Amino acid sequence: MKSGLEDVVAAETVLSDVDGKNGRLIVRGVSLDELVRTSRYEDVLALLFDGFFPLEGSLQAALGRARVEVSGHVARADVELVALPPVDGMRALLARLGDGNDVESALRLVAAPAMFTTALLRRKAGLETVAPDPALGHAADTLRMLTGDMPSEQQASALDRYLVTVSDHGLNASTFASRVIASTQAGLTSSVLAALSALKGPLHGGAPGPVLDMLDAVGSPANAEGWIASELARGERLMGFGHRVYRVRDPRADALKGAVRLLAASGAIDAGRLALAEAVETSALAQLRLKKPDRPLETNVEFYTALLLESLGFPREAFTCVFAMGRVGGWIAHAREQAVDGRLIRPMSVYVGPVPQVAAE
Ligand code: ACO
Repeated sequence: MKSGLEDVVAAETVLSDVDGKNGRLIVRGVSLDELVRTSRYEDVLALLFDGFFPLEGSLQAALGRARVEVSGHVARADVELVALPPVDGMRALLARLGDGNDVESALRLVAAPAMFTTALLRRKAGLETVAPDPALGHAADTLRMLTGDMPSEQQASALDRYLVTVSDHGLNASTFASRVIASTQAGLTSSVLAALSALKGPLHGGAPGPVLDMLDAVGSPANAEGWIASELARGERLMGFGHRVYRVRDPRADALKGAVRLLAASGAIDAGRLALAEAVETSALAQLRLKKPDRPLETNVEFYTALLLESLGFPREAFTCVFAMGRVGGWIAHAREQAVDGRLIRPMSVYVGPVPQVAAE
């Protein structure tokens, strides 16, 4: 029995490879470094979907049409759903989309997290929802639907870089959940719902909100060392550090740190906030090295995600929803890959409970 299925290989995939020793991520043959330099989210989606769905014409146009289609479901974001944490409201709305396996269903599911999250957040703030503009890129339109204003080029490309960076990542917990459901031949919506439910936990995609809580609690760079020391002494985990697979720095952390620095240069991130984050990171890494010399604990993707999404105007309680906007493409491609492979995922357990007493003869 392998606790947490650590090191267990449970699928063959052409989609992505996480090299934890060398800190490298490859998506369909392209390294993350190259992807963030050369591709927009729609390009990565086309790469992920290639061979799993028939794609004709521009994917940006098809995704734009899917946003318009999903906007017909936004009216279902009623008072009850608006009162829930955004990820739970979004999950309830997703559950009402049909459970197909075709390309239209896939594109609706990619469009839906952006549509539902922005609608729920605006309704919560007492604002009218904003209709999608199918001519825009997915990232730019998402920010427009969030704030009601056209984002700057730097803001749109920062969100786009984030969506590209998190689009797929091997057999992480949410992707595995998606594949388990797909292996039963249930539809894509069922896979995405299971994946989203796995993503929301604080050990997976729920960490960046708590990263900001940590920055707020630290308050100033001078407090970083003492605050972190007392958290570690109490046995607390530092959010945004450590990873099951990476034993070196998560390459996605650097991709996002680059985007954060670009935003800071354009004045979109407060320089003091960035300095605080850098002080917390430096001190956390130094103290984690001393505390766990045998278990490398490095910065993970969630640390700079927190700063990036905060500066783009997303409230921290919706960060997991934004993660889902990017990862949904990976979940869907993995679900199709698993469903086509056709084997039901059905592992075994070791029974360690009591056994019925055999009556003595
Ligand atoms: N801060 C302090 N200690 C840590 C941290 C951390 N962030 N992460 C791991 N440790 C310690 C554990 O307490 C454990 O110590 P012990 O052996 O004395 O009990 C040891 O390191 C090994 O930890 P595991 O739980 O075995 O590591 P696992 O591979 O299961 O966990 C995980 C990986 C969940 C990401 C973990 O590092 C963690 O909790 N990090 C904080 C939450 C976080 O940032 N999550 C986002 C991950 S990225 C993503 O999913 C997109």
